Amino acid sequence: MSANEMKGAELASMLKSKMQLTKTNSVEAPWLNLSEEDMEWWRDAKLGFFFHWGLYSLLGRGEWAMFNEQITVEEYAKLADQFQPTQFNASEWAELAADAGMRYAVMVTRHHDGFAMWDSPGSYGQFHSGNSAARRDFVKEYTDAFRQAGLRTGLYYSPMDWRFPGYFKPKELADNAALLKRQGYEQVEELITRYGQIDILWYDGGWLAHSGTDADAAWFWEPIRLNEMVRSHQPQCVISPRSGWVGDFQCDEGTHETRGEIIPFDWEKCFSIAPFWSYDAEERVLPIEQIIRLMIDCFIRGGNVLLNVAPSPEGIIPVSQQEQLKLIGQFMKKNGEAIYGTRPGPLQPVDRVYGMTNKDNYYYLHILDAEAFEGIRLPALPGTIIRCELLDGSPVPFEQSREGVVITVSSDRIEPYDTVVRLTMSFD
Ligand code: GLC
Repeated sequence: MSANEMKGAELASMLKSKMQLTKTNSVEAPWLNLSEEDMEWWRDAKLGFFFHWGLYSLLGRGEWAMFNEQITVEEYAKLADQFQPTQFNASEWAELAADAGMRYAVMVTRHHDGFAMWDSPGSYGQFHSGNSAARRDFVKEYTDAFRQAGLRTGLYYSPMDWRFPGYFKPKELADNAALLKRQGYEQVEELITRYGQIDILWYDGGWLAHSGTDADAAWFWEPIRLNEMVRSHQPQCVISPRSGWVGDFQCDEGTHETRGEIIPFDWEKCFSIAPFWSYDAEERVLPIEQIIRLMIDCFIRGGNVLLNVAPSPEGIIPVSQQEQLKLIGQFMKKNGEAIYGTRPGPLQPVDRVYGMTNKDNYYYLHILDAEAFEGIRLPALPGTIIRCELLDGSPVPFEQSREGVVITVSSDRIEPYDTVVRLTMSFD
């Protein structure tokens, strides 16, 4: 769903997550943060595969349908009897993700509706896939298959659960809220102890009663205690900021453009390839141009991209989404050298015109708008350019002086989204 179609709490949730990029109002606990070294793989990986898939997929109206349409807990629970994704094959999804150039993945293991996608003894009312028509542990199938395909595996978990009245009134209904909290701790422990090494724990919805920030709810969830438990089992897991503790990276959410300067801390933008995070009965997708632009805008500002797909209730990633994944894969294959393992800069990006990434003694210039770029004198660069070429090695004329650098790419070599010029530098 696009931001202008969202209302009420769902909109508030999106806006709250968008704000998290400013790193405000978060509980700090530096001893929980990973070292620079442990963050390296994540910073290098750049692109991840996200999927929202669960009972809400059967409705085809987004993962907030239960709340937005005020479907009762009893009514909603009946969906578990219909959840029988006979087409789901985790290895096929892993292959699609790997072919799209994704280096990690995050599975929604339990969204705000409370339905766990694994056989979860800690689930309140045993509301989980082991108990559904499917009788399968999807977290197990996913972690096995994605690891096998060489991707880092992450798990999304929502502490909030709409089935608990205490979620909405944590003080008045403290006993019920305590059950919600107990479920949260037990399920997080299950997720991080039963499936081998978990590379990312991606909390979402650590707030309360759909209001305030995640950090405002820290009195209730005690995110430091929760994450100390996580660290005791998974000392190297990269943790998202949405438990109320500031986490190992910050999030930006949605399809708005990223502009401005390089963001000087670890961050990730997540957005969906489709109008909803979860299955949309019409199987619509974002235009490829928009997807790739959003991605480059992050890479040149030091951000990762977690791109969400919305599989069907039967377990199929719609063809319309697969087509976009294929095009993303082609883009990443062609330009991966200037993306994976890079860091942003040295020059600050100019919105919609250009930006830079760098690795070893290479600077990669990403030209986003060749017309606007033409004739521009870039600010002076650290080091001396000893070679200037496209990624296929074709030379590109340049002039470097104390005042700056002029680079001229001939018009027949301009790429539709991103024309990458590699500068080999000498720093003697
Ligand atoms: C928001 C939405 C949620 C979605 C998530 C992904 O918090 O409420 O439905 O799962 O963003 O980042």
